Amino acid sequence: MAEIHKPNTANLRRLARVLAEGGLVAVPTETVYGLAANALVPRACRAIFRAKQRPLTDPLIVHVPSVAAAAKLAFINPAARKLMRAFWPGPITIVLRKRPIVPAVATAGGPTVAIRCPAHPVMRRLLRLCRIPLAAPSANPFGFISPTTAEHVEAGLGKRIAHIIDGGPCSVGVESTIVDLSDPTKPEVLRVGGITAERIAAVLGSPVPVRNQAVVAAGPLRAPGLLTRHYSPNTPLKLYARITKAKLRHAGADEGFILFAHPSGALPKTAARVEILSRHAQPKEAARKLFAILHALDSAGLSQLHAELAPEIGAGIAVNDRLRRAAAKRTAH
Ligand code: TXA
Ligand code: MG
Repeated sequence: MAEIHKPNTANLRRLARVLAEGGLVAVPTETVYGLAANALVPRACRAIFRAKQRPLTDPLIVHVPSVAAAAKLAFINPAARKLMRAFWPGPITIVLRKRPIVPAVATAGGPTVAIRCPAHPVMRRLLRLCRIPLAAPSANPFGFISPTTAEHVEAGLGKRIAHIIDGGPCSVGVESTIVDLSDPTKPEVLRVGGITAERIAAVLGSPVPVRNQAVVAAGPLRAPGLLTRHYSPNTPLKLYARITKAKLRHAGADEGFILFAHPSGALPKTAARVEILSRHAQPKEAARKLFAILHALDSAGLSQLHAELAPEIGAGIAVNDRLRRAAAKRTAH
């Protein structure tokens, strides 16, 4: 069983040493928990893939404490520098051409590396203490729901790792936005997340296309996190533009419902389990709660889940992206 550590100085010092020596530690970030290892040590990176049962073709995100630390790993172009200045530390990952120091296993053999400077204070302290870049994908078994609490990590990977740092529930709740700037003339959002494409376009001064994710799923594995089925619960999930009160009223005790907001008036009497992403229809709150609600409903022994999509604005875009992937059939790829 993994040990869950409080983020006090003594523990962070000890776990920074574990990381520097090539060990694995699950870490809190503001988006989701990550499974971290020394990004410069191929053996340590390989241990991440083993623990997650992640295919070696799916490259890792490398976490750094600063732009200066990023510059040691990748060639930073002016567009990337603009985004770093605007959004770091924060929930945006930037794909750039890598320097030779980054091992091939971290980038799935490719010429680019994904770099992120997280904002979570515990992760920042840990990065400063260990003085190495930390490769860290989300701390869940490959393809399943990302963890937003230390308990989620324990439930998914507790038998495969020794250490989890408890930094509390994640404040953003969905993974970072990934922007490919490896060719600065062709910026592209590869994954929607904590920061919207509009905000990125505003900083870059030009529109930034969001990659059509169905195409990614069918084509070569450029950003395999974009596989159609990802973030999946074991319980089947159906999506709706709106879930009516009549549907709730007639549902059975083996069904679970995820409403985007509280319906006007009272919730109808129902045998089903009902969860609300944001009582007052706030997309950011919905993003923060989404994975915790999916985890809870998935482990409740239900036979069918139903979820209402969020309005397609702000954080609602990332919420809907994750819901659509969670609902995609296992045969989708
Ligand atoms: O918020 C986050 O980004 C979290 C926390 C822990 O930082 N991490 C995360 O990692 O979501 P992961 O492995 O679950 O997703 C990383 C995604 C993968 O889908 C991978 O394909 C993509 O980033 N990626 C990594 N390196 C890439 C590269 N060089 N080019 C394109 N995509 C890349
Ligand atoms: Mg992931």
